[in-house]
Amino acid sequence: MSIRATRRRTVAVVLAGGTGQRIGLSIPKQLLKIAGKPILEHTLQIFEDAPDIDDIVVLMTPSHVAEAEAIVARAGLRKVSCVLAGGGTRSETTNIAIRAVSERLDGGTDCNLLFHDAVRPLLSQHVVKECVTALERYSAVDVAIPSSDTVIVTRTHGEDGEFITDVPDRARLRRGQTPQGFWLSTIREAYEHAAADPFFQATDDCSVVVKYLPEVPVHVVIGDEYNMKVTQPVDVFIADKLFQLASTTAPAPGDDAFYRDRLAGRTVIVFGGSYGIGADIARTAEGYGARVHALGRSTTGTHVENPDHVEEAFARAYAETGRIDFVVNTAGVLRIGRLDETDNATIREALEVNYLAPVNIARTAYKYLAETGGQLLLFTSSSYTRGRAEYSLYSSTKAAMVNLTQALSDEWAEDGIRVNCVNPERTATPMRTKAFGAEPDGSLLSSQEVARRSLDVLLSGMTGHVIDVRRQDPTAAPDSAFESALSQVLSTSEDQSV
Ligand code: CTP
Repeated sequence: MSIRATRRRTVAVVLAGGTGQRIGLSIPKQLLKIAGKPILEHTLQIFEDAPDIDDIVVLMTPSHVAEAEAIVARAGLRKVSCVLAGGGTRSETTNIAIRAVSERLDGGTDCNLLFHDAVRPLLSQHVVKECVTALERYSAVDVAIPSSDTVIVTRTHGEDGEFITDVPDRARLRRGQTPQGFWLSTIREAYEHAAADPFFQATDDCSVVVKYLPEVPVHVVIGDEYNMKVTQPVDVFIADKLFQLASTTAPAPGDDAFYRDRLAGRTVIVFGGSYGIGADIARTAEGYGARVHALGRSTTGTHVENPDHVEEAFARAYAETGRIDFVVNTAGVLRIGRLDETDNATIREALEVNYLAPVNIARTAYKYLAETGGQLLLFTSSSYTRGRAEYSLYSSTKAAMVNLTQALSDEWAEDGIRVNCVNPERTATPMRTKAFGAEPDGSLLSSQEVARRSLDVLLSGMTGHVIDVRRQDPTAAPDSAFESALSQVLSTSEDQSV
């Protein structure tokens, strides 16, 4: 067993050479859009964002290479060094990748290869890191998870169907995923042996090493259940739901110079800017030299549900500053109670302020933001993943914010407008105090903290995201976006208000 001390180059090989017959679509399944983007793009972005990955090689279905190249160009994926045509089987595709990478290296140079199925778009950064770390010590690494199902081995007896021949011990069974990582020298040697075997066949790459290089230990990294492979039609639905749940955390904060550089001379409009998070966003942005128009019922008499008020607010800000770069809407009302006991006025107010207003604001903002390539920032609540008793109006209108964000980010992507949605956990704001009374010190996020993270989102390149802002220490071990989503689904109390 060799031990390597230094980090070597790691190439991610994204296997997208298949056609996806089992899913039965007219295009290869890796081009199917999930959560607004082709599956392939989601997968490539994971490696683009992975600090340990130096280079990405894409192997695409031969008839669709141009589409894959267009995705790479449009998404600005700088680590992708080439898109090559894949082979007739997954193993042939792997072989093409091994040859291509070998040709580009000096004779004796070795590197790490991480082979990953393009149709596993939910791979976590944590697993990528674990694989690269394991390759410092082992020359072959698999990713697998325990099997929750009992697995049986069967044999078919003609027309009588299948019969069990073996039931392996479930405790030792694992379900193989990808990435599968290798030293180039190791996987190349395994495939050289395979080439000499007329009966060779394989559905993954670790089995090639196990069979042809039995002396090489293949280390197993624990994967996760979310790293599913989109194979059957139902998987498209499940993957879409998982993406819907997977919110993101805010980008890392910058220093004062960063905020000044990006905010000085820019125009920010904040609806709901009289108090709470909106007021803090306005104050902070102004502190860095932005020209801020903070609008609110109690301060400027702006009623966001009134399209004329919204129009006027934009026109005034534009007349004064000649540009509008960032539009934020934190206005919202939280009324708790059973729907059958809610009066007309309350229903109308909830729908107008929480839904109609953001729609008005978005529609009016479009032409201004298209001029600056700016951003619209909306706010949602943790209840967007699941409606809750006595919060029907609040949680359903807040769920609408997520859908609106996704739709508009897609619709406006070509105009260079970004649209995101912040999901703050319980925050100390006047609206919350009004609804829930005083709460224990330390149990709530400060609205300044949420305002800071909101600015980080405004100044980032992200679009179409739901960004969780939570109280926990951002430097603590990251739990996955899915775990956070799961805790939201399981939580029974309403815990957010802007
Ligand atoms: N793959 C590949 N080259 C092939 C076949 C498969 O690169 N000739 C890739 C697929 O694009 C996919 C991964 O290997 O990302 C896993 O393949 P799988 O989903 O099992 O196969 P598909 O051929 O895509 O689908 P199906 O078996 O349903 O036709």
